[in-house]
Parts: sequence; C-alpha cells; structure tokens
Amino acid sequence: MGTWNGSGRRVVVTGASSGIGAAAAVEAARAGAIVALVARRADRLADVLAECRQHSPASQMVVADLSDLDGIEGVAAELVDALGAVDVLINNAGVPKRRGVADLTPDDVEGVMHINYFSPVRLTLALLPGMIERNDGDIVNVSSMGVHMAAFRVSAYSATKAALEMFSEGLHLELAGTGVRSHLFIPGSTDSEFSSKKDGNDDPMPRDPKSVATSAEVGAALIASLADERFITYATERDAASSARRNADPEVWLANLRSVFSGM
Ligand SMILES: NC(=O)c1ccc[n+]([C@@H]2O[C@H](COP(=O)([O-])OP(=O)(O)OC[C@H]3O[C@@H](n4cnc5c(N)ncnc54)[C@H](OP(=O)(O)O)[C@@H]3O)[C@@H](O)[C@H]2O)c1
Repeated sequence: MGTWNGSGRRVVVTGASSGIGAAAAVEAARAGAIVALVARRADRLADVLAECRQHSPASQMVVADLSDLDGIEGVAAELVDALGAVDVLINNAGVPKRRGVADLTPDDVEGVMHINYFSPVRLTLALLPGMIERNDGDIVNVSSMGVHMAAFRVSAYSATKAALEMFSEGLHLELAGTGVRSHLFIPGSTDSEFSSKKDGNDDPMPRDPKSVATSAEVGAALIASLADERFITYATERDAASSARRNADPEVWLANLRSVFSGM
C-alpha cells in the first residue's frame, strides 16, 4: 500500500474524540490534510484538535450528536462552512451493543442501527452531491470484523455494520467514473474505549491480547487505505487471514468458536 498524500485535502472524521478516529485524524493532519473532527465530547475533541493543529493549523472541530438523524443535514452544512468543502468523509463514529440475542429488545436493535448505519448514510447523502459536482471525493466507511466472523453477543451491532458494508459496496459500484471513491475499512479487535463501554452493554468477551491492535496502528492503516486502489482494506494482515479462514469453511469456524466459548 502506498503513502497517502493529504496535502490540502479537506477531511471529516466522525468519532474523532477517542480511539481509532482520534488516531486517524492526527494521521491525516500529519499527512497534510485540513481535518474537521466530529463527536459529542467537546473536551476530548479539543485535545485531539490541538494535536492536529500542530501539523495542520486550519483544522476544526464540530460538536454534534450524530444519533440525532434530523440534525445531520445541519452538521453537514456546518462542516462545509468550516472547511469550504469536504473532499474526504470518514464515517467512523460507532457504538457497540453487546447483548445476547435472547436478551435484546427492539429498542436496543433500533438504537444501535441509528448511530452505526442511518447516521453515516445520512451524512454521506448530504455530502455526496458536492463531491460528484467536483468530480472528486473519498468516502470511507468503518465496518468491523464482526461482519466477517461470528462472535458472541454482538449480533445487533454486527448487523449494523453488515448494512453499512452493503451500502458502501453499492456506492463503490455506482460511483465508478464519477471521481468519487468508496472505501470499506475493516478493523478487528482494537484497543480503545469501545470494549469498556458500559451503558446498555454486557461485559465484553475475553480477547486474546496477541490479537488486539492499537488504535494508533489501526488509525494509520485507515488513512493509508485512502491510497489503496482496492475497495476493501482490513486493518491488519491478521484480520484478512481470519476472514479468509472463516470463508473457507464457515461450519468449521462456527464449531470451533462454540467450543472455545462454551459455558461463558
Ligand atoms: N475497538 C474495536 O475493537 C473495534 C473493532 C471493529 C470496529 N470498530 C469500529 O471502529 C469505530 C471506532 O471505534 P473505537 O474502537 O475507536 O471506539 P471509541 O474509542 O469508543 O470511539 C467511538 C467514537 O464514536 C463517537 N460517537 C459515539 N456515539 C456518537 C454519537 N451519538 N455522536 C457522535 N459521535 C459519537 C465517540 O465520541 P463521543 O462519545 O465523544 O460522541 C468516539 O469518538 C466504530 O465504528 C467501531 O464500531 C472498533
């Protein structure tokens, strides 16, 4: 994969107040981009913005709750005002929903769908016409290995990312020739606040520390994926290999998983 030249690119990163989004925002600023950071926690965004401004002084932040779907067009307009135009949209904001299928409520399922699927789709639809008009743009949707290999207690969450993957694939197909590129970025287990989120989540399943990437590693891979001609980028070689093994024989994969986690 080549190195992304962000010089002068105007980049929006949602979910930039922590974890993968914060790391990706700083990486983009380091590559010369002017970055606009979006999330709810203003204090945390301000810390990330200060780091971005060391590399890219014109970077900005917009505090917004992206689960408020009716507010998304207003957020898009604020972002265009702040940057002049948006060349790169990184839809990274997301929440987990760790709960066994038998315990899920309809509200659980709909709530996680709002922030993880409907919200990035609305932001994309709001910013896409400008990109098509300029014959230039990149849209990165951040999915999850949860779509590529089954895991326990994340069915509602994984379904939101499966929806986002197919939307991204549709964009990729239909935008060919417009100058606007759709990228699908797939992280596996990553060290961030995601796994310690409490509100409405069961405790996380135990993870093998050897298979957990750092947010810095994954944020850098996300920005590097902008230089990749391929539509799909796995955050690590390990994730790509796991996906291939699971696809080679899903039945064997599921049986192994059940035996490893039986009784938990
Ligand atoms: N960590 C993993 O193991 C892992 C694995 C696969 C995929 N992913 C995906 O990677 C992405 C980033 O996750 P992460 O690991 O970096 O977790 P994180 O540290 O918890 O970051 C999540 C980000 O989303 C923002 N966010 C959440 N709800 C929001 C809302 N309603 N409005 C605006 N912003 C909101 C949070 O900001 P505020 O709270 O300040 O709003 C935060 O900046 C997510 O899409 C996640 O699904 C993570």
